[in-house]
Amino acid sequence: MKVLVIGTGAREHALCRSLSQDPAVSELHCAPGNAGIARVAALHPVDQLDGAAVTALARELGADLVVVGPEAPLVAGVAEPLRAAGIPVFGPGKEAAQLEGSKAFAKDVMAAAGVPTARSYVCTTPEEAAAALDAFGAPYVVKDDGLAAGKGVVVTEDRAAALEHAAACMGAPPGPPGGRGRVVIEEYLDGPEVSLFAITDGTTVLPLVPAQDFKRALDGDRGPNTGGMGAYSPLPWAPEGLVAEVLESVLQPTVDELRHRGTPFSGLLYAGLALTSRGTRVIEFNARFGDPETQVVLARLRTPLAGVLLAAADGTLGELEPLRWSEEAAVTVVMASEGYPASPRTGDPIEGLDAAEADGASVLHAGTRSGPAGEVLTAGGRVLSVTAVGADLAEARAKAYAGVAEISFKGAQHRTDIAAAAAAGQQLP
Ligand code: AMP
Ligand code: GLY
Repeated sequence: MKVLVIGTGAREHALCRSLSQDPAVSELHCAPGNAGIARVAALHPVDQLDGAAVTALARELGADLVVVGPEAPLVAGVAEPLRAAGIPVFGPGKEAAQLEGSKAFAKDVMAAAGVPTARSYVCTTPEEAAAALDAFGAPYVVKDDGLAAGKGVVVTEDRAAALEHAAACMGAPPGPPGGRGRVVIEEYLDGPEVSLFAITDGTTVLPLVPAQDFKRALDGDRGPNTGGMGAYSPLPWAPEGLVAEVLESVLQPTVDELRHRGTPFSGLLYAGLALTSRGTRVIEFNARFGDPETQVVLARLRTPLAGVLLAAADGTLGELEPLRWSEEAAVTVVMASEGYPASPRTGDPIEGLDAAEADGASVLHAGTRSGPAGEVLTAGGRVLSVTAVGADLAEARAKAYAGVAEISFKGAQHRTDIAAAAAAGQQLP
C-alpha cells in the first residue's frame, strides 16, 4: 500500500513512524513534513491547504490512502477533491469537520444527539457576551468559535480579561480586525480531563485507549493554554467502564447524528472530556488525531495502523478484528521554543537528537527543518515530542525525561511534571 500523510507536526511524525513499521506499507510519503519525518517518508513541498495540489500529488504517487493529519486542511475541505478522484482518504469532509471548525456547530450537534456538554451561549455582541458571563459566573470560559490552534480558549477568574477575549474573538475593539464574529461562552467544568479518540467510517465507531494531555504552558497547570505540552497513557485513575460509557453516550450518538444529517464523519473523532462531579461532559470535539496524545496512543497500538485507517476510509471498519494494545505505558514530553505560545523564536540548531534516541526515547519532530549543512533547526512553537514506553508510567516518564535531558536548543522550554501525579499513583481530583 502506498500512503501519503498530510501535515508537519509530531502527530504526523508519529503516524508516519507507525505506518513505516507496517509491513503492508510499501511506500510512505508526506507533504510537507519536517526534518524528522524525512527519515521515514519521502517529503513533497505541497501546500497542505490546497486540495487540488494534494489530489494531484496523490494521483502522481498512485497513493492507495491519504491520511490528513491537521484540522486546517480538513476544515478547508481537502478531503473532498481526493474523494471525488476516487482516492481513499482518512479524515472527514469539510462539513463534518465543522465539528472542530465551529464550536457553535459542535454544540448544535451535541444538543441534537443528546450528548452531555457544558451549557453555553453563542454570542455576537459585547452586551450578549457580558450577559452570558454573568449568567454562569466565575471561572469564565470564553471560546473563539473558529479554529485557533489550541489558543482560542480563555479560562479566567478575571471578568475584564474574559470580556476582552470575547471582544477579540468577535473582531470588536480592542481585538484584531477580521475576527470571525462569534464567541461561545459556557459554564466551567471541573474535574480531570481525558482525551478519547475513536476511529470511525461514519457508522462503526472504534474507540482507542484514553490519554491525558497537559494544555497549559507551565508546571502545575499554570500559564497560557497551548496546543499541548505532554501526554500519557494509560490513565490508571480513570473509572472502569469509561470507554464503553463514552462510546455509548458521546461517540456513537455524534457519529449517528452526522450520518443522519447527510454529512457522515469518517476519520478520527477526538472527544475532549471532563470527568466532572456530575458526570462525564464533552469539552470539545476535534476532527483529527490529537497532538501530543497521538504520540502515546500509537506507541501502545499493536495492530498495524495502515489497514485500520484504510478500513475507516473505505467504510469497512465493521469487518476489522478488535484492536490490540500493549500493556506498557507511554509518556511524551513536548520541547517548545522560547516564547511559545505567544511568539516562538525559530532558526536555532538542535543538539542531542541521536543521543536521546540512543537512550531509548523516540524523538518525534514537530517544528523542525533541515539546515543547509544537514543540521536540524527549530522551525515552530512546539519543536519536539520526546516519547518513551516503559513497564509503567514511572519508567516511561523517566525514559522520556532522560531523552529530554540529552537535547538542547537555545531557549528550549518543557514542563517537568508530565504524568508525574499519575506515575506516583495519585488519584486525580
Ligand atoms: P478546547 O480548545 O475547547 O479544548 O479548550 C482548551 C482547554 O480549555 C481545555 O482542554 C480545558 O482545559 C479548558 N476548557 C475548555 N472548556 C472548558 C470548560 N467549559 N470548563 C473548564 N475548562 C475548560
Ligand atoms: N492536544 C490537544 C489537541 O490536539 O487539540
